[in-house]
Amino acid sequence: MRTFQAPKGTYDLLPPDSARYLAVREALALPARRAGYGYVETPGFEEVELFARGVGESTDVVTKEMYAFTTKGGDELALRPEGTASVLRAALEANLHKAGNLPVKLWYSGSYYRYERPQKGRYRHFSQVGAEAIGAEDPHLDAELVILADDGFRSLGLRDYRLLLNSLGDRKCRPAYRELLQEFLRALDLDEATRDRIEINPLRVLDDKRESVQKQLTGAPMMRDHLCQECRDYHERVRELLTIAEIPFEDDPKLVRGLDYYTRTTFEFVHDGLGAQSALGGGGRYDGLSEMIGGPELPSVGWALGVDRTVLALDEEDVRLDLAPPVQVYAVPLGEEARRALFSVVTELRRAGVTADFAFGGKGLKNAMKSANRSGARFALVAGERDLAENVAQLKDLESGEQAPVALDEVVSRLRSRLTLTTVREAQ
Ligand code: HAM
Repeated sequence: MRTFQAPKGTYDLLPPDSARYLAVREALALPARRAGYGYVETPGFEEVELFARGVGESTDVVTKEMYAFTTKGGDELALRPEGTASVLRAALEANLHKAGNLPVKLWYSGSYYRYERPQKGRYRHFSQVGAEAIGAEDPHLDAELVILADDGFRSLGLRDYRLLLNSLGDRKCRPAYRELLQEFLRALDLDEATRDRIEINPLRVLDDKRESVQKQLTGAPMMRDHLCQECRDYHERVRELLTIAEIPFEDDPKLVRGLDYYTRTTFEFVHDGLGAQSALGGGGRYDGLSEMIGGPELPSVGWALGVDRTVLALDEEDVRLDLAPPVQVYAVPLGEEARRALFSVVTELRRAGVTADFAFGGKGLKNAMKSANRSGARFALVAGERDLAENVAQLKDLESGEQAPVALDEVVSRLRSRLTLTTVREAQ
């Protein structure tokens, strides 16, 4: 019989590694949650047109990488390639922006899908944590988001990453710059696909990684030299606020990002140990997106951080996360009566907040103790007929090897205090 594998460009998350992913997701989201961002969850698919209009019809994400399909009912849908368009759609649909409390601050975490050529750090199914602040134009908000992302990476112990920062101007100053850039690019020796790109999205040409193209870009006009006064002042303020917050950044006039909705502030966190797929996360301001998807004018800013790449970066820097063991107590019953008694104790322990597991399947002492050791539990709770006759179980500290009888009705309180004591001591 044939067997099955995860589809190309995807992988499964399994214990024990999956615990790290969960911890990374939580750590990346925590700073945003501490800053008043509320949790939002949207469907895994949306109308294709939302992404075509929002992310941009000329982007690779939309033209090449979207999992688009027609449903049996004739709806044109796509698996979400990113979160911003969906989150804004959801906020507009629920009229959150009319509740009189702008910006609407939302965070999310979930799966995204892009039909890309798979390689290390680039998958067809990947996971992001994102944050969006909808409906306010305030450089402090741009700075807040950058600081929150940086706090997330730093809290995990990451060090070798850099923050790239740029401004893409606004609807006032970008059109004139765009024309200027087009004029410059049209005079270059470029292939047909790139020539087409000059007409649709000339800024993306600046981002072309090919040496042959980059060589010709010396002397190209840069947006930062053509910002209007408002954009220049705004960007200067964001830079100042980041400096005050002691967030190191590099000005990168060529940072354009792969999605079309950006205006003014754009940023990317890159990790130098990750090779070609170096972006750990990125984002920026998208003041025109709401109108592009049929909403009112709602200047907004946000980011999405890649969970998969953050885990790779932790590996690269050899950072070990301080993860709690999956269980603290492992119960080893010897005989039928002990199984009944310890099963109740385990249930009680769990209800009291102690993580506990049980030797299922009627294992013998040796096998069960092996499982206890493998589980990572600090304590084994062992009981046989003789123990039960005395109403006790043997509590064994699996680190020190010490063992002592404990009255069955004191097991929970004893373990709770010993586990608290251990945690407090370890934290000191
Ligand atoms: P993005 O730069 O396309 O931005 O994606 C954000 C992050 O998701 C990337 O920096 C990367 O870490 C991760 N990522 C993207 N594609 C893949 C992939 N194929 N495999 C693994 N990881 C990947 C956005 O998605 C915007 N929605 C960010 C944003 C929010 N801008 C404003 N608000």
